[in-house]
Amino acid sequence: MLNKIITDIKREKSYSNVSNKIIRKLDNKILMPIIESYLRENKIDLNSRKQYENAVKEIRKNLEQVYGAFNPEIKKRNLLLKQLKKDPLNKEIYKKILNTHVSSKERLEDYEEIYKKIFEITGEPRTILDLASGINPVSIPFMNLKEINYIAVELNKEDIRFLKEYFSIIEPVYNIHSEVLQKNLIENNNFPESDICFIFKALDNLETLKIGISRRLLKSISTKYFVISFPTKTLYRKNLNVKRLAWFNKLVKHPIKFKTKNEIFYIVKKENIY
Ligand SMILES: C[S@@+](CC[C@H](N)C(=O)[O-])C[C@H]1O[C@@H](n2cnc3c(N)ncnc32)[C@H](O)[C@@H]1O
Repeated sequence: MLNKIITDIKREKSYSNVSNKIIRKLDNKILMPIIESYLRENKIDLNSRKQYENAVKEIRKNLEQVYGAFNPEIKKRNLLLKQLKKDPLNKEIYKKILNTHVSSKERLEDYEEIYKKIFEITGEPRTILDLASGINPVSIPFMNLKEINYIAVELNKEDIRFLKEYFSIIEPVYNIHSEVLQKNLIENNNFPESDICFIFKALDNLETLKIGISRRLLKSISTKYFVISFPTKTLYRKNLNVKRLAWFNKLVKHPIKFKTKNEIFYIVKKENIY
């Protein structure tokens, strides 16, 4: 039965956007326990067709949140990019693009406030390294920075293609220098130096894939500050509980924390990673 659910979950075409390696890892280490725990915690009766179909839909939705996969909005996003080319100062188009990715959609209304809070603490950065960026770089206009070097790192090929085109549109308009790198954070730990390193809604997932990876990654990065976020609503649990982040709290000292509706942010100096 589990195999059938996996096949049904993977039936979505856009799943092929995520690199094969991650799919393999999802197969072996992630997918089975995720599905089992979902079925158990939600008491799904697999004999009920309705419950089965709902379970497939819900699991797919949650995976989308974690991996940015299954994105059905890619077509729409590309059309919006064409609009942006004609009107690159129109903030509404940026918002519409951010709305096409589950992660950025959730913080759409909070972006300006989030960056204000971050830069009040860190000072205005010259260089930002955005790891597992998704399409978060589309929020650059909400950072209100005069000049910026922006390095986005992603695994998902479609996001990489999108980001390269996006930056080619906005670079001449805003004062930006960009780099877009396709890297698997589980295998690579060689990144350019930065003033701030963003890791939004990605670290707990990497840690699930490979225990100890977060420490190795954070230690290897040359930056002044990390800004690391976690969703407050997690896979199958209503709220983020203290226990779930115990591994992370051991890793960082003196973080400055703040919360939005759906997310908790930690601002940590590099020297406070243990
Ligand atoms: C939940 S999304 C967050 C996206 C973005 N940071 C944000 O908050 O808007 C997680 C992102 O991590 C990326 N990702 C997952 N595993 C990765 C890996 N091993 N290396 C690099 N990126 C990865 C996914 O492709 C996805 O875009």
